[in-house]
Amino acid sequence: MSKILIAYSTNSGSTAEVAETIALELENGGHSAEVKRIADVSDLSGYDAVVVGAPMIFGWQSAARKFLKRNQSQLKEKKMAYFSCAARLTRVEEERLPQCPVVLDPNLVSSPEKPGRISLKERFTTLRYYLDPMLGAAPQICPISIAFFKGSIQMYRLKWWQAAFVMVIVQATPGDGRDWELIKSWARSLGDQF
Ligand SMILES: Cc1cc2nc3c(=O)[nH]c(=O)nc-3n(C[C@H](O)[C@H](O)[C@H](O)COP(=O)(O)O)c2cc1C
Repeated sequence: MSKILIAYSTNSGSTAEVAETIALELENGGHSAEVKRIADVSDLSGYDAVVVGAPMIFGWQSAARKFLKRNQSQLKEKKMAYFSCAARLTRVEEERLPQCPVVLDPNLVSSPEKPGRISLKERFTTLRYYLDPMLGAAPQICPISIAFFKGSIQMYRLKWWQAAFVMVIVQATPGDGRDWELIKSWARSLGDQF
């Protein structure tokens, strides 16, 4: 049995629910799992493994990147996994994948609108655009898995300028796209490795 921390950040709450679901699934698998908002994490010493989750909001939300950067020396000694909730991910075939396994929610992934050519907007939603700052925040950490899940957009939970950004730049469709079975199966796969 491992003691696992699920440290998350969120803008409008849906990533917190994903973190809770992951914790429940890890506990069902016989581990001890604690869920904490990144801002509330003060001591990492008691954990064997840490899962860091955050939405894609101007890249992987900065709280997650700063957390990894700040705690890299301690976290590199633990088993680590990252996840993100996002609205879209443009998959460019020739993109190189990192060494660590990457899990992509099929509902999140789309191909460039014009085959062989990515538009300016698509450039900001490619796997590489998402992954580089994630892995670059703590280059000494090699997560056992990185998952990208389709998230949730509830317009009434957003500030007006966030709603405008989501509609005009991200061009995301409002609604809850979270695939709970995929999220749970990813959590179980982590449980087997922790
Ligand atoms: C201001 C803002 C910017 C966002 N930017 C992106 C983005 O660049 N790429 C993307 O895939 N999703 C983007 N999204 C969608 C969120 O990542 C998604 O809705 C996520 O599930 C929100 O999680 P939360 O409820 O935990 O905040 C953005 C959402 C907001 C509000």
